[in-house]
Amino acid sequence: MCGIIGYVGTKKASEIITEGLKCLEYRGYDSVGIAVNSGNNESGYEFDVRKEKGMVEEVSTALQFTSIDGTSGIGHTRWATHGAPCQENAHPHFDCKKTVVLVHNGVVENYKELKAELMRKGHIFTSETDSEVIAHLLEQYLLDGLAPIIAFIRTIGSLKGSYAIVAMLKGEHKIYVARKNSPLILGVGQGEMFCASDIPAMLPHTKTFVPLEEGDIAMLSEAGYKIYDTFSNEISRKPIEVDWDAKTAEKGGYPYFMLKEINDQVHFVYESLSSEVGNAREMIEQTNNIHIVACGTSYHAALVFKILLQKYFNKQAEAFIASEYPFVSSPSKDTLLIAVSQSGETADTLQAVRFAKQREMRILALTNVVQSSITRLANEVVYLNAGPEVSVAATKTFVSQLTVIYKIIFENDPKANIAIIPKLFEKALEQENKIKALSEKIKDKGDIFFLGRGLSYPIAMEGALKLKEISYLHAEAYPGGELKHGPISLITEGIPVIALAPNDECVEKMNGNIREVKSRGAFVIALSDNASVRSEANETIDIPGVSDARFYPFSMIVPLQLLAYHVSVLRGINPDRPRNLAKSVTVE
Ligand code: AGP
Repeated sequence: MCGIIGYVGTKKASEIITEGLKCLEYRGYDSVGIAVNSGNNESGYEFDVRKEKGMVEEVSTALQFTSIDGTSGIGHTRWATHGAPCQENAHPHFDCKKTVVLVHNGVVENYKELKAELMRKGHIFTSETDSEVIAHLLEQYLLDGLAPIIAFIRTIGSLKGSYAIVAMLKGEHKIYVARKNSPLILGVGQGEMFCASDIPAMLPHTKTFVPLEEGDIAMLSEAGYKIYDTFSNEISRKPIEVDWDAKTAEKGGYPYFMLKEINDQVHFVYESLSSEVGNAREMIEQTNNIHIVACGTSYHAALVFKILLQKYFNKQAEAFIASEYPFVSSPSKDTLLIAVSQSGETADTLQAVRFAKQREMRILALTNVVQSSITRLANEVVYLNAGPEVSVAATKTFVSQLTVIYKIIFENDPKANIAIIPKLFEKALEQENKIKALSEKIKDKGDIFFLGRGLSYPIAMEGALKLKEISYLHAEAYPGGELKHGPISLITEGIPVIALAPNDECVEKMNGNIREVKSRGAFVIALSDNASVRSEANETIDIPGVSDARFYPFSMIVPLQLLAYHVSVLRGINPDRPRNLAKSVTVE
């Protein structure tokens, strides 16, 4: 859950790395650091290492990152797993004599044994992190007389767990990298090389990338790159061209990425509607039993997928929270596993996929990131085409997940018209001022409830998650009919209840639930196009009516995203950087 970056070339490394770290900050932001191979042939090279607790902007300014001269360097923005956020535990880490400096994303599971062995050999550690062990291990292999690349490959061979590592050795104008179960991509430039946890951090400099496979090790220099396997054999990997423009990864004049990405949905939904889903639909048609695994927002898309598969594809389908899947399921070989993950790097989802692969199940993945880890495990991949999503809170990728799911289910259904989806957003975005005013009314309420039935229930769950993760208010979603079996005891005077009550087969029952909570003093905000619901609720958010009720989820998601966004901003929180969260959770 960290962001790492490296550069070797002819330009000022500190500037390229500092800008890249700002792009990577959504991956983790409790401390940050940089190391540059500073100096020249006359005075020799020294590593200038600067690191501190805090976010990229404040630390890079305070420690003047971009004042460091040098044309090769590495950088890291951290999400603590081993050792609290502090200057010592911040990356980069180095060995005893600062001949090795490196950054790491992931978890070294056998670091205690390695550390004990190295301490017996006299190494002195300055942090509590697992990552520092890697620097001392490399130092030891160099002290044992191995050539740099061999020493690096041996070091990697000794690690258990997940890692993306970028290292530099004193006096060398080279970078060494390795990855396993953590993302790392190479960026190919003219007379320069880049590497980073994701593509947007390198987009301003190149459009040519080399995604590394599990276990790949590489050496980068001005002249280019060489890739090795763990047996020191040189191997080749196919470069890819990515046509994302750097602007997509910038705020485009919006105060926060989240608001930009909510508004971007109107455009990106057309890209998602053009996703290739034919093979995916065929895989689904060939099986009767389907298990869908995902986490967080993607799990809510999985719940919609499950309902649609059962109701309109006549399939036995079940949606599982990925981290639970290995413990609660016993799938047979002919069960199809569908994994939904925008980043394609979520460790819990990857673990569920590996669990299924061990049982020779076929894997279909829905993801937004080309060449992400999940694409390498899956038999078939559907891309969301939502472009890079920077805000930690998933918005446009959730809508693109729903869009490709609806395309799989309804593209060949003569009665369904998936082309209406984009229209449903425009209307919702027109409500922003109304939604902002309602956010003002609920921003100081401690508990907020969301209700929905049928296809609206997963959307209500997503609304509650968005509010929780970026406003720090306690929010819960319930199926409308479930309240009376307990949770209704929590409803007291003034408690906000957000009721998703579109004019579908559930509207009467939902209106009953609205009356139920209102009679206990709740303040009901209804998302509805139904007249009697609108007269029953305290406040309403207009949603565009749809001729086909199956498409109502698309008319209700944007208002819920905007509600969470405005409550967050009104509470003085940065919705792009909510506390205790990171964009892709790459540890279990
Ligand atoms: C959603 O806003 C959160 N960022 C989080 O719940 C996220 O959906 C979850 O971690 C799954 O991520 P994935 O889609 O990249 O696998």
